[in-house]
Amino acid sequence: MSYDKLIFELSKEGRRAYSLKKASYPQYDINDLASNLRTIELNLPEVSELDCVRHYTNISKKNFGVENGFYPLGSCTMKYNPKINEDIVKTTNFAKLHPYQPVNTVQGALKVYYELQKSLSEISGLEEFSLNPYAGAHGELIGLMVMKEYHLSRKDFKRNKVIIPDSAHGTNPASTVVCGMEVVEIKSNAKGMVDVESLKSVLSDEIAGMMLTNPNTLGIFESDICEITKLVHDAGGLMYYDGANLNAMLGKVKPGEMGFDIMHINLHKTFSTPHGGGGPGDGPVGVKDFLKKFLPNPQVKKLDDYYYIANEADAIGRISSFFGNFLVELRAYSYILNLGKENLMQVGGFATLNANYVRECLREDYILPIKGYCMHEVVFDGLLDNPNDIKTLDVAKRLLDYGMHAPTIYFPLLFHQAIMIEPTETESLQTIDEFIQVMKQIAKEAKEDPELLRSAPLSTPISRSDEVFAAKHMIFSYRDYLEYISNK
Ligand SMILES: Cc1ncc(COP(=O)(O)O)c(C=O)c1O
Repeated sequence: MSYDKLIFELSKEGRRAYSLKKASYPQYDINDLASNLRTIELNLPEVSELDCVRHYTNISKKNFGVENGFYPLGSCTMKYNPKINEDIVKTTNFAKLHPYQPVNTVQGALKVYYELQKSLSEISGLEEFSLNPYAGAHGELIGLMVMKEYHLSRKDFKRNKVIIPDSAHGTNPASTVVCGMEVVEIKSNAKGMVDVESLKSVLSDEIAGMMLTNPNTLGIFESDICEITKLVHDAGGLMYYDGANLNAMLGKVKPGEMGFDIMHINLHKTFSTPHGGGGPGDGPVGVKDFLKKFLPNPQVKKLDDYYYIANEADAIGRISSFFGNFLVELRAYSYILNLGKENLMQVGGFATLNANYVRECLREDYILPIKGYCMHEVVFDGLLDNPNDIKTLDVAKRLLDYGMHAPTIYFPLLFHQAIMIEPTETESLQTIDEFIQVMKQIAKEAKEDPELLRSAPLSTPISRSDEVFAAKHMIFSYRDYLEYISNK
């Protein structure tokens, strides 16, 4: 039997993956619920347990994850997620807690939340954190809401504009707009950094603040950061730190000390929690002392040795059902404790060393648009010697044939053939060397056998898909699929 089929195609009428015993407890008449009962057949696939298990196991093998091979997806920090984090989630009772349990029965969980907040404060130099946001982009929105609330509380109603560099991640302008504020874009200079003159030209009493990633989305440390934060502060704005790239800074520099007032952290990047197919993530928001009263409710506080839940009057309100993705927070806390301060301080250094090693080894094969050292990720702009006009997409697709995930491509938007590589600190020298050899081999193939690259990947279950079509016509269910087939 081919398990390449959709599960509905394996379906045989009457086949079951379960057999339920007759219930031994009393039965109740649910007649009064009759009007609410489903009258239409559910139309579920009918398969045996074995077919079902094989089907999903085979599907999982078609997927590529950080546990299958090298995954240098720039801007995403696809580092290894240590198994001890999973063990702690599975073998302790945390997973069985209910959010409505009395506070005195969940002291351990509240302690984890509180202590993780404190660890993030120590790491970032920002005094207070809320772990409630569910992802980086959610954290951005909450951070911007805090920024807005701060200006409103001072009756500074004009401040509704947020400065964002053109190299920023797309979620920065998106979150600004969702928060009801206006985006003011500024250009990067030739070195890929914020153009300070361009920044000066947009500062006014309408500026609520500036969002910045440092190292920025080109993997470069903004060396003028102190001047930038001073200029924005002098103009009455606040500095927002997009902490997605915090990995590079661990143990080296604290955003609070660079002059940032608000930040979010992507636990699923820097603190080794799973990225997990779009979620669950966690995007804690940290603020300087003068902003802490605006952090969302509910909040976890400590009095002597007792942890309690508080709802503060000045808070921006509730932004999540409870306390964020608690088991993700538990994994991050486990990571921090397992590494300990000394090892955590090595992370940024190794992540940066690995990216620069890749940069130096590939500079004769791929265009390096930015001079000087990079931080945790390196950006190339396509092949250097490219007589056959091979595109970045072809290089990325060919990498899949070598069992490696492609780096981020066509981002940042500043370069037409961008390839953004982030090896992270968790890869060995052997793996990175293997990747470098493969990239060199692909550069050779681009000259000697361009058609091979244009038709890659040849070894994956699906070769090239029409990505625009796929994005515009998403097929989420078997019914959608049947409809698509019948209209074809
Ligand atoms: C620089 C930057 N900011 C924000 C985000 C958004 O984070 P999330 O994907 O957790 O919503 C990302 C995600 O890749 C990012 O790289």
